[in-house]
Amino acid sequence: MVNVLLIGNGAREHAMAEAVMQSSRQPRLFSYMKTNNPGIALLSEKIFIGSYNDLAAVNAFAKECRIDFAIIGPEDPLNNGVVDSLKSVDIPAVGPTKSLARLETSKSFTRHLVEKYHIPGNPKFRTFSSMEGIEAFLDELDGIVVKPDGLTGGKGVMVQGDHFQTKAEALDYCRQVLKEHPSVTIDERLEGEEFSLQCLCDGKTVVATPPVQDHKRRFVGDKGPNTGGMGSYSCEDHSLPFMDRKDVVEGIEITQKVADAIYRETGEYYKGVMYGGFIITKSGIKLLEYNARFGDPEAMNILPLLKTDFVDVCKAVVEGTLHTLNIEFEKKASVCKYIVPKGYGLPKDHPDAQSTSAKIEVGDVGQARLYYASVDKREDGLYMSTSRAIGVVGIADHLDRAEQIAEKAVGAIRGPVAHRPDIGTGPLIDKRIRNMQKIRG
Ligand code: GLY
Repeated sequence: MVNVLLIGNGAREHAMAEAVMQSSRQPRLFSYMKTNNPGIALLSEKIFIGSYNDLAAVNAFAKECRIDFAIIGPEDPLNNGVVDSLKSVDIPAVGPTKSLARLETSKSFTRHLVEKYHIPGNPKFRTFSSMEGIEAFLDELDGIVVKPDGLTGGKGVMVQGDHFQTKAEALDYCRQVLKEHPSVTIDERLEGEEFSLQCLCDGKTVVATPPVQDHKRRFVGDKGPNTGGMGSYSCEDHSLPFMDRKDVVEGIEITQKVADAIYRETGEYYKGVMYGGFIITKSGIKLLEYNARFGDPEAMNILPLLKTDFVDVCKAVVEGTLHTLNIEFEKKASVCKYIVPKGYGLPKDHPDAQSTSAKIEVGDVGQARLYYASVDKREDGLYMSTSRAIGVVGIADHLDRAEQIAEKAVGAIRGPVAHRPDIGTGPLIDKRIRNMQKIRG
C-alpha cells in the first residue's frame, strides 16, 4: 500500500491521477485541488479543496492522510515552495524545491546557468534589471523575444511578429515588464519547429519521455491568440515527423547537462520533471525555456503510453534510483484535442465571447480517453467555466488513426464548445515538414 498526494486540478493532473491508479502497488490517492475536478475526485480516496498558497493546509492534509510521497502538477505551488514545506514534515515530492523551480520561474536563472556551464542551446540573449542598454541590444537582433522574469501564466512572453511589430513596441513592453518584475530577459527570435521534451530527473539521471508537439494558437492553421495549449500529438516511433533522431538526443544531452549544472550550482538534487521547450533551427536545436513540471496538454500524450508502473517511477525520482528502472512507453501515437468554451481566447466584445459557464453533454466517445480540466459536475450535468474544459485523447498504432479517434470523440461532446480540428492531421503535419525542410535548406 502506498499513499500518494496529488496537487493540482487540471486535465494534466487527471492524467497523472489515472497513471497513479493504474499502478499495481495498491496506491491510495489523496488529492489537494484549488477547485474540484470531478475526474480526479472519482479516482481519489479523499480530496481537499484549498489554495495553493496555503502551505499549512497542504501539510496538514498530507499528514492526516499519512502520505508517502507527493506529486506536484502545476507551477504555482512549486513557486510557492510547497516542496520545501512538505520536506519540512519529511514528505518527499516529485517536483523541485522553490529554489530549483527557478528553472521555470526565472528565465534569467536558466539562461545564465546554461551559459555559465557552457551548455549548448542558448540563443543570443541578455538580461536587464533597468532600461539601460536595452535599446542598443535590440539593435543587434534580427527578431526580438521579451520574457518577464517570473511566472506569468504562460501569457508573458512576447514575440516580435506575433505580439508586437516594432522596436519601439518592444521597448514599451520592457518598460511595463520592469514595473512588475525584477528583470527582463531578451532573446533573439528563432525560426523553426518546436517540440516539448518532458524528462524525469532524480537529480543525477535524466530519462526522456517521447517528444510531443503542442499547439498554442487558438484557431485552425496556427492563427489567433496564444492559449495554454489547444492540443498536441506524439508519434508511434517516439520521434516527430519533422525531426531527426539527433534532435531528441541533443535535447536529452542538454537536459542532462542542465541537471548536473543545477547540482553543481546549488548543491541540491533536482527531483521532478524537466520539460524542455526546444526549437529546431537551421543551426541545430535551441532551448526556448524549461518548465519544472509536466506540460498541459503534453502529459496527456505520454502518461497513457507509460508501460512502467508510474508509482515505481515516482519513487525512483524521489529516492534517486532512476538509473535502476527501465522506463518504457508503448510504441503508439497519441493525439490530444482540447474542448474549450466557444468564447475561449476571443476578445470580450466578440458575439461568442460569453459562451462560458454553459452546460455540455458528453455522448459516446468511443475509444477516446477524456481528461477533465475546468468542468464542474452538478446534479444536472457537466458545466464549463471560462477555461479549457476537457482534453480528448486518441491513442492508436498510427497517428492518423489516433487523430480520427480523438476527432470522432470531440464530435460527441455537445454544447457551445470549440476545438482545433487540424491538430494531428496530415495537412498540418506536412506544413511542419515543409517548414523544417525550408529552414534546414
Ligand atoms: N504546453 C504548455 C505548457 O504546459 O506550459
